[in-house]
Amino acid sequence: MKNLKFNIWGIIAFSVIAFSCGSTEDPLPDVKIPEDKEDIKDEGVVAIPLKELFKDFFPIGAAVTPQQADPGTNHGVALQKHFSSITAENVMKPDALQRNKGFYTWEGADRIVQFAKSNNMKVRGHTLTWHSQTPDWMFYDQDGALLSKEIAMEQLKEHITTVVTRYKDDVYAWDVVNEALFDWDPNGVIVYREDSPWYKIFGESYIDSAFVFAHRADPNAKLFYNDYNSIFSWKRNKIYDLVKRLKDNNIPIHGVGLQGHWMVETSEQDIRTTLDLFRGLGVEIQITELDLPVYLSNTEPGSTVYTDTFSFRQKQAYSMIFNVLLDYSDIITGVTFWGIGDDHTWLDQPGRKAFPFLLDEELKPKPVYFEVQKLVQSRQ
Ligand code: G3I
Repeated sequence: MKNLKFNIWGIIAFSVIAFSCGSTEDPLPDVKIPEDKEDIKDEGVVAIPLKELFKDFFPIGAAVTPQQADPGTNHGVALQKHFSSITAENVMKPDALQRNKGFYTWEGADRIVQFAKSNNMKVRGHTLTWHSQTPDWMFYDQDGALLSKEIAMEQLKEHITTVVTRYKDDVYAWDVVNEALFDWDPNGVIVYREDSPWYKIFGESYIDSAFVFAHRADPNAKLFYNDYNSIFSWKRNKIYDLVKRLKDNNIPIHGVGLQGHWMVETSEQDIRTTLDLFRGLGVEIQITELDLPVYLSNTEPGSTVYTDTFSFRQKQAYSMIFNVLLDYSDIITGVTFWGIGDDHTWLDQPGRKAFPFLLDEELKPKPVYFEVQKLVQSRQ
């Protein structure tokens, strides 16, 4: 929150958004009978399912709740139709899987994995090591004091090994470490997020360890470092240095996840420069959390109506973004939206809907969808 210019939705909602997201404890939403969406059109053009549209380029994914991964719901039908990859929005995080030490709750994660297997979808695992959505016992003792390195390391190893081993045959890629780098520091002096309990206990070395533990548990899994604001110079250079250091030290890291919590005015040059930089690292790139709220800034008045202006902005922005991503499809091995459609997103606030996706609140293609479709077809 240091600077309004950079205070994009990728940052703000970490602390302030009222979430509509489901959890394993949430009651099941109303189950609607899915309608046939085959004939969805815009000016006579039939929508091509996203996974077909992008099949020559990269898998296309969505983050989901367990309740959405159900073929009996509209969400399940949209997932089957449009997506070839799936990520748990919350239920594979440490606090969801092991809220109490030694007691794992697999139900929500298993449900998503089972849905993916039944529908021939890839699964991206998110996330093994994070300062947020991690239970206190992983960091602190009963008196609230930070754990010793030995105990914390043993627990981290146990958690990663158990989770990765369980999903060894099902999860092809993991966000092993999430958001370890400091967000805003133009001089690059403060490299790591020093308020992270992981950093307080270990310094940076827990990052190396986490990748090693994940690799030992599943040598075939693709292992990613995942972060937001990663297209801005002050952050991308830190990511570059981190990944380079890991690779130079033979730590098993295979890719960088760029969380695409971008804006409608996101700079094409920032994305291209970032992709060029990471190309030089010889790692895969995945856009892991793509969403594009309709507002120009967080001071623009909120709306609950999707206006022509919003539509125009998204057409411009999404076309630009996918045009760039197609240019780099040799190194981009996946693009995942951080949700399915505009009905459910972490970005919504009361009276201020974000409308960040290609599918609307009824999970039907928006005009921007057809704009993207036109763009992709022109590139085939
Ligand atoms: O776990 C409780 C549950 O017990 C309770 O019933 C429910 C009632 O609202 O709240 C549940 O926790 C919420 C959780 O989502 C699951 O629904 C948290 O309050 C809420 O803060 C949490 O928000 C998630 C957020 O990460 C937390 O940081 C969002 O859904 C999720 O979209 C968001 O995802 C992150 C990525 O993991 C990392 N990158 C940034 C991205 C957006 O913040």
